[in-house]
Amino acid sequence: MQERLKEIEDRFKQELSEVSSLKELKDLKVRYLGKKGSISQLARQLGKIPPEDRPAMGEAINRLKRLAEEEIKASESRVKEIEERTALEREALDITLPGRPPSVGSLHPITLVMEEIEKIFVSFGFQVAEGPEIEVDYYNFEALNIPLDHPARDMQDTFYISEELLLRTHTSPVQMRIMEKYTPPIRIIAPGKVYRCDADVSHTPMFHQVEGLMVGDDVTFTQLKGLLEEFARRIFGETKVRFRPSFFPFTEPSAEMDIGCVICKGKGCRVCGHSGWLEILGCGMVDPALYRYAGSAYDPEKITGFAFGLGVERIAMLKYGINDIRLFYENDLGFLGQFAYER
Ligand code: DAH
Repeated sequence: MQERLKEIEDRFKQELSEVSSLKELKDLKVRYLGKKGSISQLARQLGKIPPEDRPAMGEAINRLKRLAEEEIKASESRVKEIEERTALEREALDITLPGRPPSVGSLHPITLVMEEIEKIFVSFGFQVAEGPEIEVDYYNFEALNIPLDHPARDMQDTFYISEELLLRTHTSPVQMRIMEKYTPPIRIIAPGKVYRCDADVSHTPMFHQVEGLMVGDDVTFTQLKGLLEEFARRIFGETKVRFRPSFFPFTEPSAEMDIGCVICKGKGCRVCGHSGWLEILGCGMVDPALYRYAGSAYDPEKITGFAFGLGVERIAMLKYGINDIRLFYENDLGFLGQFAYER
């Protein structure tokens, strides 16, 4: 029994030195001092040894029991410290890790194309003007020679806010706002948002236009043609251009400009309706009727002018080969991220 006692003491000391958590310490206590623990079991065997040996043996067992209790208690703070240290090591931050780079945004394709269009016209000597998106009937229609019964006023196309107020359906109202304010010569473009009650693969209720207006002495259709042809080449690269007669209430004569189809290069495909041509803008000589609204500085006998209007989404779609206008407004970062940031 003496030997067994020694054995238990040695094993206890060994195991205690290896304990590294409070849980292990608690388990150790149960294994040695618990009801079924090795020291308690030894005490229960006292009855099996000769009576004369019992007091000394009992004394030795009690000594071991006290020793175990004291040493366990004394180990508590050491084990706690180990526990804290390992927890800290586990949670340590590796400050040498490289950081996450902030992602760089890209400009929206419509912004990119608008900026490109502005740059081109600014290089032609045009100034950039702005007008309100909430417009009055007068500037959006009446002063542009669009009579009350014109189909463009139809409720299906125009978002009316009240009898008098509406969301502008084109950027043309800026023409009259500028002419009212400034005397000729005038050379402006007016980029901005416009609204129409319309939605399919080639129409969104909000889209962008750029309006152009040049008024002065001897402004001619030839100048208009030359300017727009050069514009088309700068946007699309070398391309064929043609002008077709058309009608707009605010220009006379009116025309539409086509470029050679960027998809099939003029051979004929689905995008150009097998014609080899794509319409990209409307234009014409300012109808003299408009000068009546513009004020006395605009004498229809003395001055002439031209105007044009183009859809930015359409130009962006042709330039980047996008076949659904709605992609611009779905906020899909995978789509938007493809347009490089460049200014
Ligand atoms: N405002 C026209 C539209 O939204 C576009 C347009 C055509 C503007 C001819 C013009 C122009 O200035 O001369 O369809």
